[in-house]
Amino acid sequence: MEFFQYLAGVVAQRRQQPEGDLMSVVANATIDGEPLSDMDTLSYGMLLAAAGHDTTSSSVGVGMMQLALNPGEFEKLKTDPSLIPSAAQEMFRWATPVRHFIRTAVVDTELGGQKIKAGEAVCLMYLSGNRDEAAFDDPDTFRVDRSPNRHVAFGYGAHHCLGRILAEMELEALFNEIVKRVESIELAGEPEWVKTNHTGGLKHLPIRYRMYTRA
Ligand code: HEM
Repeated sequence: MEFFQYLAGVVAQRRQQPEGDLMSVVANATIDGEPLSDMDTLSYGMLLAAAGHDTTSSSVGVGMMQLALNPGEFEKLKTDPSLIPSAAQEMFRWATPVRHFIRTAVVDTELGGQKIKAGEAVCLMYLSGNRDEAAFDDPDTFRVDRSPNRHVAFGYGAHHCLGRILAEMELEALFNEIVKRVESIELAGEPEWVKTNHTGGLKHLPIRYRMYTRA
């Protein structure tokens, strides 16, 4: 609620005095010539401000943990950094920071032998989908060169994550630097998970790492 109140102030201010920023676009957006409702404007602002935080940091944390647990995979990345984009996809699959979303069936259908009626809510369990043995070879193994890797960490269809490309750029940029500078990573304690039923990942990841010494 505090976040909504904060955004309401930002929206009011950007409506009076638009600046060249994203919130000015959201605050003054129209659809078919009509302004968005206040609820829609605030929800968009909230989504844009929050959607990329826990999700991206969770992917980085879980990716780092997997590199510490799988030194052979870290070795592969250091030897061949062109694998970093595919490693980032594997980190998203492992982290699956958004655990689930709900969809409403618009027609009667059947899925995996389960009858679903129009109007019923269906929970999409992304964590489960990303470890589906029918879709992934050896799903519980972290492989930086996994191919194909048709994970659903960013959802699927009309609401596919708007920030996916930004999140990919962020992970790739970070791990590109890490493989140049970090020689080895290991766990230095028990990882602690965020207690959440929706979005999250690691709360604490104690690690010990060794940097390359500069010549
Ligand atoms: C690792 C990082 C991220 C993950 C795992 C992630 C995951 C997701 C998922 C699962 C959805 C729902 C897709 C669906 O309902 O089918 C979604 C939607 C969305 N994401 Fe992300 N996201 C990430 C980063 C970001 C970033 C960086 C931004 C923006 C800066 C962002 C903005 C959005 C928005 C606006 C939507 C709603 C799209 C719509 O409803 O049309 N996300 N994301």
